[in-house]
Amino acid sequence: MATPTPGRVQRAPENFLAPADIAEVAAGRRGFLRAALVAASAGVAATAARASQGDPAILNLPEHTRGLGQPVAARAYGLPSKHEESLQRRESPGLTRVGAASVSFAPLQGFFGIITPNGLHFERHHQGWWDIDPTRHRLMINGLVKEARVYTMDDLMRLPSVSRMHFIECGANTGMEWGNVAVPTVQYTHGMLSCCEFTGVPLSVLLDECGFDKKRGKFVLAEGADGSSMTRTIPLDRALDDVIVAWAMNGEMLRPENGYPLRLVVPGIQGVSWVKWLRRIEVGDKPWGSKDEVLHYVDLMPDGLHRQYTSIQECKSVITTPSGGQQLLQKGFHNVSGIAWSGRGKVKRVDVSFDGGKNWQTARLETPVLTKCLARFNIGWEWKGGPAILQSRAMDDTGYVQPKLRQLREVRGARSIYHNNAIQSWKVAESGEVSNVQV
Ligand code: MTE
Repeated sequence: MATPTPGRVQRAPENFLAPADIAEVAAGRRGFLRAALVAASAGVAATAARASQGDPAILNLPEHTRGLGQPVAARAYGLPSKHEESLQRRESPGLTRVGAASVSFAPLQGFFGIITPNGLHFERHHQGWWDIDPTRHRLMINGLVKEARVYTMDDLMRLPSVSRMHFIECGANTGMEWGNVAVPTVQYTHGMLSCCEFTGVPLSVLLDECGFDKKRGKFVLAEGADGSSMTRTIPLDRALDDVIVAWAMNGEMLRPENGYPLRLVVPGIQGVSWVKWLRRIEVGDKPWGSKDEVLHYVDLMPDGLHRQYTSIQECKSVITTPSGGQQLLQKGFHNVSGIAWSGRGKVKRVDVSFDGGKNWQTARLETPVLTKCLARFNIGWEWKGGPAILQSRAMDDTGYVQPKLRQLREVRGARSIYHNNAIQSWKVAESGEVSNVQV
């Protein structure tokens, strides 16, 4: 299989044609598809032409209809098809230090629905990942509690557990766009984002068991077991609300790079608070002011001051199909699809514009729409072959509307790294090529 170009989508959303066929279609040479290309509903005409004119791929019986297939358990742990190999987490030579303890971005352009497959969950490590032995891993709860406790994994996993679906987004997601840098693909603009079903014990159960100080306790500190000294302060009322001490992701134990065997799930809050390889929770009466909350993950404002503790990931959305680096091969009908989310609750509505924000239409939200979870939206679009600018604008159930980049810059300036939830614009050229533009 050809080596995929980093960051580019090898498969345009509307086809599995071989590269030679794609070149022919793009050049308008392909026999039975040529007529279909100029038809209003190209897809329907092309499928009818394939039936009446005889597509060899349906007429000739391939070997797999006659031979004996692979035996069961040929792979004791299932893998994706070899035809899907180009869909990978990727590091970005332009954005981060490749091969270091850094970031790998999730290929959002290749996902369907709202669940991120475990092997494609984005990664962000400050000091590399470890595959920690669960029999030796411990979680301590201490500080303002009646009785400090140290839990083994077995102790934790016999407690009452919950399973909930939530998104996780790094506060630095979409960070490059602050500085007028339109990075090429949705994988790199928005790929520090994933969404999974997490299973674990509510933190409130553990805090109750240890008898946390209800009068003096105002915050908890979460600490990881890696070398990054990763500690984050979380307000106690939130810790008691929906925070989970999780061991499972999408029905199996966490992957090592995502915190195996234990991580904190802090729904709606930026990823840095989702401490991985979780080893300690301390109850205290004031924020700890650790390096990852007073120096990093802060917002540099236009007046030169830093805003701290802006942890909630505000309402945001992005069109994933079509998106930067892809190419529309045919005029006519396209299903435009994307994802929306809010750290404050549920996504209420997503509007889509095909003309750079002049006119908006409401997209269809796939159900169920869950709180602090990705929502998938879809809307039909008839592409006439001219230039277009595609945008999505989400609203959450607090009534908050995702801002335009210009509106966000008016308040926040252009020197921030974190918390960019602006509307994303994808330009479709007459050639069908899709690219990132800032409007
Ligand atoms: N926890 C520890 N212990 N060490 C880390 O480096 N990175 C944080 C957070 N938890 C980190 C950590 C950051 S910045 C993010 S965005 C998320 O983990 C990323 O989680 P993921 O790698 O599972 O996607």
